[in-house]
Amino acid sequence: MHYDICVVGGFGHVGLPLSLVFADRGMKVCAFDINEQSNAIIAKGEMPFFEDGAEPLLKKVLKNKSLTLSLDASSISDSDVIIVTIGTPVDSHSSPELNVLEKAIHKYLSYFRDDQLLVLRSTAYPGTTTKIQKFFDKHDKNVDVSFCPERIVQGHAVKELSELPQIVSSVNKKGLEKAKKLFGLLTDDIVVLEPTEAEYAKLFTNAWRYIKFSAANQFFMLTNEAGIDFAKVYKGLTHNYKRALDLPFSGLAAGPCLFKDTAQLSASNNHEFALGRAAVQVNEGMPFYIVKKLRQNHDVKNKTVGILGMAFKADIDDTRDSLSYKLKDLLEFEAKQVYCSDPYVNNPDFISADELVNKSDIVILATPHKAYKQLQIGKDKELIDVWNFFGNGSLI
Ligand SMILES: NC(=O)c1ccc[n+]([C@@H]2O[C@H](COP(=O)([O-])OP(=O)(O)OC[C@H]3O[C@@H](n4cnc5c(N)ncnc54)[C@H](O)[C@@H]3O)[C@@H](O)[C@H]2O)c1
Repeated sequence: MHYDICVVGGFGHVGLPLSLVFADRGMKVCAFDINEQSNAIIAKGEMPFFEDGAEPLLKKVLKNKSLTLSLDASSISDSDVIIVTIGTPVDSHSSPELNVLEKAIHKYLSYFRDDQLLVLRSTAYPGTTTKIQKFFDKHDKNVDVSFCPERIVQGHAVKELSELPQIVSSVNKKGLEKAKKLFGLLTDDIVVLEPTEAEYAKLFTNAWRYIKFSAANQFFMLTNEAGIDFAKVYKGLTHNYKRALDLPFSGLAAGPCLFKDTAQLSASNNHEFALGRAAVQVNEGMPFYIVKKLRQNHDVKNKTVGILGMAFKADIDDTRDSLSYKLKDLLEFEAKQVYCSDPYVNNPDFISADELVNKSDIVILATPHKAYKQLQIGKDKELIDVWNFFGNGSLI
């Protein structure tokens, strides 16, 4: 068997859509992963998570055999290009697990052969690409290492992979030319950087988004403390005023990337990243702020509270690092009873949105899934809507 591309971590949120899109562009792709459960789901032509437009594509590329699934690391040997998309987490102290990529490469070293291109696509701590190239050099493997970060927004990967500019970098010229050719299959808009510049560019992309969300959340808290509705101020300040259009609205900002990448950036500078630290404090503080206001304004211990939306953002099923769970934990400590609901998340303990509204004295919109637009929430309920999703203001 010979593949053009082997995607390591190919069943994940980054790896699977990327495998599908390359397979659809005529590449012979092998998605290799260690997750047997996902393998069984994907082999049936089903996506293991929600990704817009991915399932028809999956069925198509499985049928025409441009995509192969593998649980066997020897697929690496059978491929010209290896793209690594495994997770690069931070630990419980918000320090990056620095060696995740290196450990994986070390584990699979025997499967690499000369003249392959290795593309690191996982978000990488600054300096990782150069370090991994040195690792191959040390082991006399003539593998060109390149870093080409993923910058899609989860849920829209299939569309965005061919719409976004692609940052491409490599430790040497040969690797760079191969990587440019590879991503030239997806987009004409290729931006060349040095590997460490590209690593910073990826981290800055997410940290910037996270800081913007924190500015909105801090503004929300400031106005809320003054008894003023942030929704009204926001509408006024953004109306026909281009310089304020990139100010997001307040909400629960979390997920597997924004916090983690801000933490990685901070760690790369001896944890001296004042804006990043402040953003974490504000964004992670939102559930505490909501509960504090509930405690101030209501007899919470005698109230039932319902949380609408457990995914980390709207219209997807991913609960990784969702602040809804932090809210749930806090409320379980404070309230008489807590109910949870999410139309995308399978959990036998969750109830339907209608039932949740019926059973709760206080309803908190944690994740603004579009499906909730139809929901009838009576005036007898206390609605907490820091997103102003229902258009009745965001004041708590
Ligand atoms: N999720 C996003 O929207 C997004 C966007 C841009 C960048 N990223 C970055 O991409 C990387 C992956 O994120 P994700 O959300 O796809 O994670 P994920 O957990 O969904 O996917 C990772 C996959 O790698 C597999 N895996 C782990 N170790 C492996 C190994 N040794 N060999 C083979 N497979 C292995 C896992 O089984 C899993 O399927 C992270 O660095 C993340 O920061 C994610």
